[in-house]
Amino acid sequence: MLIEKIDRKQVYIDVAMLHINSIKFGFLPSLGVKFLALLYRCVDESDFSTLIVKYKDSKLIGFVTGTTGKSSLFKKMLNHPIELILILCPIILSYKNIKKIIEIWKYMSGIKRSKYPKAELLSICVHEDYQRKGVAIDLYKKLSNYFNAKHIFEFVIIVGEPLEANLFYINQGAKLVDKFQIHGNTNSNLYIQKI
Ligand SMILES: CC(C)(COP(=O)(O)OP(=O)(O)OC[C@H]1O[C@@H](n2cnc3c(N)ncnc32)[C@H](O)[C@@H]1OP(=O)(O)O)[C@@H](O)C(=O)NCCC(=O)NCCS
Repeated sequence: MLIEKIDRKQVYIDVAMLHINSIKFGFLPSLGVKFLALLYRCVDESDFSTLIVKYKDSKLIGFVTGTTGKSSLFKKMLNHPIELILILCPIILSYKNIKKIIEIWKYMSGIKRSKYPKAELLSICVHEDYQRKGVAIDLYKKLSNYFNAKHIFEFVIIVGEPLEANLFYINQGAKLVDKFQIHGNTNSNLYIQKI
């Protein structure tokens, strides 16, 4: 991970907060800061995924995460059982949340996802005060370098159809190859980015 002299626990909270503030209507933000902070810790600690952050004056201004897809992040979260149980208890009391978790899991292990490259950009967010200044381009390049170093030359991006982020990926040369629904009527686009 590209973090210098910054407390790691604080980094995971900063990343979780920026995710929640940037993608307000997604399902993952609805699971709360603690869940996301643990998820990002696992992304950072796994040898098959990466968390790349950009700080300015001790403030997180952007991050990107990606996975080679060689293993499952949900499995990695099981390495922190007590934390996970404490975080999940209030979440799994909701029927809607269980349904959505199952929908995501089914999609991730389904036939449709398996047709495409395993490597994936999981999330990218830039603080709203720093958008349209090329921060995401810089993070995207660093993620591409990470994949290149692992001899991976293409990766998948899955993004909700209504999000403006689609325009960023198109600007980077990603090709739209599929559309599907993970939850109910919300469409998601699947892009492939060649490096
Ligand atoms: C998508 C996002 C990461 C882009 O970050 P950014 O740092 O502002 O992007 P850049 O400045 O590097 O943009 C590069 C180019 O992409 C395109 N682009 C980026 N954001 C755009 C937007 N909101 N609308 C239209 N085009 C956009 C433009 O062509 C831009 O070049 P330009 O500014 O010279 O016109 C940022 O808007 C964001 O965090 N959005 C909220 C979170 C999110 O939806 N993440 C994606 C889902 S995981």
